[in-house]
This record gives sequence, structure tokens and C-alpha cells, in this order.
Amino acid sequence: MLWTDLMMGLNRLRGLGPPATLWRLCLQCSPAVAMLDRVPSALGVPPLGLVALRLSRGIHGRGDQTNHAAGNRVPCRFPFSRVSKQDLAFFENLLPGRTIVDPDVLMTHNVDWMKSVRGSSELLLRPQTTEEVSKILKYCCERRLAVNPQGGNTGLVGGSVPVYDEIILSTSLMNQILSFDQVSGIITCQAGCVLENLSNYLEERDFIMPLDLGAKGSCQIGGNVATNAGGLRLLRYGSLRGTVLGLEVVLASGKILNFLTALRKDNTGYDLKQLFIGSEGTLGIITAVSILCPRRPRAVNVAFLGCSSYKKLLETFQCCRGMLGEILSAFEFLDSACMKLLEKHLKLINPIAENSFYIVIETAGSNADHDKEKLHNFLEAVMASFLVTDGTVATEDAKIKALWSIRERVTEALTHDGYTYKYDISLPLEKIYQLVEDMREYLGDKAKNVVGYGHVGDGNLHLNITSHSKDQALQEAIEPYVYEWTARYRGSISAEHGLGLKKRNYIHFSKHPEAVALMKDIKHMLDPHRILNPYKTLPDQG
Ligand code: FAD
Ligand code: MLT
Ligand code: ZN
Repeated sequence: MLWTDLMMGLNRLRGLGPPATLWRLCLQCSPAVAMLDRVPSALGVPPLGLVALRLSRGIHGRGDQTNHAAGNRVPCRFPFSRVSKQDLAFFENLLPGRTIVDPDVLMTHNVDWMKSVRGSSELLLRPQTTEEVSKILKYCCERRLAVNPQGGNTGLVGGSVPVYDEIILSTSLMNQILSFDQVSGIITCQAGCVLENLSNYLEERDFIMPLDLGAKGSCQIGGNVATNAGGLRLLRYGSLRGTVLGLEVVLASGKILNFLTALRKDNTGYDLKQLFIGSEGTLGIITAVSILCPRRPRAVNVAFLGCSSYKKLLETFQCCRGMLGEILSAFEFLDSACMKLLEKHLKLINPIAENSFYIVIETAGSNADHDKEKLHNFLEAVMASFLVTDGTVATEDAKIKALWSIRERVTEALTHDGYTYKYDISLPLEKIYQLVEDMREYLGDKAKNVVGYGHVGDGNLHLNITSHSKDQALQEAIEPYVYEWTARYRGSISAEHGLGLKKRNYIHFSKHPEAVALMKDIKHMLDPHRILNPYKTLPDQG
């Protein structure tokens, strides 16, 4: 069969429908701002209208903590100072026009992307330089003022917003590209550069970012590094632990650590930058990053395929790795429950026949003919062996984006379905979907929807459960059940989103007590007064 015949066969009768409008995450119009008043937070934060009334007592300090599952217990406020008039005068002098106390502006910075946790900070600082960050932290450390580092605020574990009245330090104005070396492909930039802007900058120069995720329009490279974000290209380009070559970090004391080397090899002792990658703002504030970027692939193809079972999906993955080899750049999946939410809430059109599972495969290579032939042979093989029952292929940019948006927009579709309980689990590949099926059976009609999607190529499942509104009994049914299940198969309770506020107390399901104790020692050494992102990542006890 010729490539064109195959394409026609796959696309027969349906085409791709109109290319989806390019979706970019925009917090201003992101869903459910209106839901704020109706949906209480996962951690018992009261509706916004009540916040002002409770501020003086501390909004988390209510007496209903025994109702919470142990892991989700609201932490007690540490004895930090509160922002005084003198403090405000200091910051206004340091950051004129960038010391924000306007409650309307603060509101969006106090609430996370999922609208599930909310702080009550009354001060937002917007430094532009590393020196300003250093002066802020030095002052906050001396005054014992807590600080919440914030990038694009797209984090999904409640780590990016304050719990109480921590000062929000936003990196949004630290958005300068400092250098780009066309030969080595190393880009060095400030932490507040939005991922999509970096991608566009690089694409114009025939390079790409080694990282891509659905939140690219809002998330910042500093936030990506601080969460060690995985995303859609990890299968091909590896984790940020490999592609980040250097960092500049400001410690809680205000000391600036410059590890901004652009060397691929450097074995001079401990690799200190690794401490800050994935540290979720608890050890230091990342102010600049240098990253090794791959060349822009000349040929990109995306196949969207349907499978009748998870077993067949895994066999397709095996065949895919074997036949596509070095040009395979992504292997992602979503189940039929996700597709229904996309159709219902976002009016997206399923471009192929209804199936139990959908796969997004991307190839990225340097020779279009060679890649097409490989993909053609692979598709022929999986169709002939009935592993795949239907599919469509895109080679043009608009269609590629439309197919990708089906996978990328599941997160958004879920926010329209009600309150979402989000789990981000690493498991052995053969166990991935069993967790979704077990959870469905276990919860029965207690849940509205139980869906699974994620990065099959990385062994990473996104299990999401929705309910009409926040339901404490449901949460207690899910947790710690989901974590026990994961630990039974030696999985990780956080594959890529981090622990933040929501998962900090479940760390023991994936880390030995000795490791947690060492993490606490490191925290104590670098931030003895615990001013940096308190209540996050590290467990309350143990
Ligand atoms: P924020 O949300 O602002 O902060 C996240 C954490 O990092 C917080 O703890 C914060 O304190 C800390 N932090 C932020 N900036 C700094 C800094 N400069 N220095 C120190 N600490 C800092 N994640 C994935 O891994 N893979 C995905 O595929 C993925 N897809 C997503 C899709 C959608 C639609 C959404 C909403 C989120 C997705 N995420 C994904 C989660 C999120 O986007 C990532 O975790 C992202 O890396 C966070 O970046 P941010 O700039 O928004 O950081
Ligand atoms: C994804 O892979 O889509 C992201 O990690 C976001 C999510 O888990 O919803
Ligand atoms: Zn993901």
C-alpha cells in the first residue's frame, strides 16, 4: 500500500474536521472562575466570600480537621512574622510599582489553576533581576517572613499558591532570554520566560525546547525546572535532569548561587543543580536556567489511533518502539471516558470511530520520506494484526495541532466536569490501566467519572476522578487507597507533578524514612527558618 493510500484509508469518510482553534492556556479566561464561590477547596479552604471574615484568625485554623483524611490535614501556620507597614515601605522602595497589594490582582495569585486551593496573601512582589530576588529573600529571612515562589501558577498539586499569608514572589517579569548558542543549541534565560515563548524563539532558529506540555502558554521555565515537569516529549528527549545544564539560584538567605554553566560534562564533585530541579520552591528560587535544546525535526507526523483494549494498546506500543525506533517522539493515550468529556464539555470532535482507547503517536525525524515509510510500515502492521481498529494521520501543522489538542485538553475538559481528584502515578506498564479499572469498581457510583490518560511511553498514568462538588467522603475513599495500590506495585505517587501541598504527607508511600529524613536535613541546611514555600513537599511529620 502506498503512503497516500494508507492516509486516505485512515482518513476515509471523516477527514479531520475543522482544525481546532489553537488553544492556549489563558488564566484570565480559564474555566470556573465563577466556581470559586461554590467549590470549597480540597483542603477545606472556605468559599472566597468568607475569606475576608476569617483572615484575622487564619483561614485554615478551623476546628474541623478531624474530618480530613490524615494526609490532607491542613498544616498549622508556622510562627512567621506578618507583613508590617515598614516591610511594605522596604519593598516599595526596592520594587517601585512592582509591590502589589491590590486585592483583585492578589486574588488570581492566591488561587491555583484547578481552583482547588486558596491562600490569603496580601502581598505580591514582581522582581525583574536576580539581585532584586536576593535582596527580597535576605530581608524576608531576617524578618522571618514566609515566601511563596510562583511562576505561571499552572501547578497541579497546590504548591504554587500560599497556604496562609506567605508573600508571593512572582517571576513573571524575569522574562529575558540571556543568550542562545546556535552551534551547541544551549539557551540561557531568566526563570520567568513562558515555555511557549521559548519554543517560538527557538523554532525561528531551527531548534526546539526539549520539553512540551499542555500548559505551555502560561507555565514558565523556572516553574518547569522547579517541578521537574515531564510532559509530552520526555520519551524522546529525556527529563529536565538531563537537559538542564546550569541554573542560577537564590537561597533563602539571599545568597546567589551561580551554576549557570553551559557544559555537557562536569564531574567536579556533587551536581548541586540537581538538588533544585524538582524541589518545588522549597530550597531556593531559580532565577535563570540554561538548557540544551535539540534541532528542530524536519519531518513531524502524528497518528491518532483507536484500540479496543489496553492489552492491544501495549502491544501497539511494543510494535511501535520496534518499528519506529529513533523517530518515535511521543506515545500518549486517553480512554473513552476522556473522549466523552472532551466531546461533552469542549465540543471536540473525535476524528475516528469510537473506541475504548485512543493513542497519539508522534514521529520526529530529519528525512520526511524515510519517516513516512517507517510510519506507513508500522501502521500497516498494526492494522493487519487488528491491534489498531481505526486511525488518522496528520502531516500538516494545523492538523497535527488539532490531533494533539485532543490529548492536551483532557485536563481542561475535566475542570468542567465538577470537582477533580487528580493522581499522577508511575507504574509498571502492564499495571497502568488496571488501577483505573479497579478504582472504577471500588468507587462505584460514589464518583461521577473515573478516567485515565497519560504518557504510556514514560509509564505515567493520570488517574482523574470527578464528583459533582467537593466530597470529603469520596476523597477519604480514594486516599490512601490509591497510594497503597501504587506502593504495592512499587510505583511512584507523583510521576511528574510533584508533591506540593496536596501530596506531601503521602511521600512515605514512595520514599524510605531515611530518604525523607535526609530531605529534611537538606531543607534545614539551606533554609533553616523554613521561609521558602512552607507546608509544601516535605511531610508534616516523620
Ligand atoms: P507554578 O505552578 O507557578 O509553580 C509550581 C511549583 O514550582 C510551586 O511549588 C512553586 O513554588 C515552584 N516554583 C515556580 N517557579 C519557581 C522558581 N522560579 N524557583 C523556585 N520554585 C519555583 N506537568 C507535567 O509535568 N507534565 C505535563 O504534561 C503537564 N501538563 C499540564 C497541563 C495543564 C493544562 C496544566 C494546567 C498543568 C500541567 N502540568 C504538567 C503541571 C504544570 O504545568 C507544571 O508543573 C509546570 O511545570 C509548572 O510551571 P509553572 O511556571 O506554572 O509553576
Ligand atoms: C497531562 O499530561 O496532561 C498533564 O500532566 C496534566 C494532567 O495530568 O492533567
Ligand atoms: Zn502529564
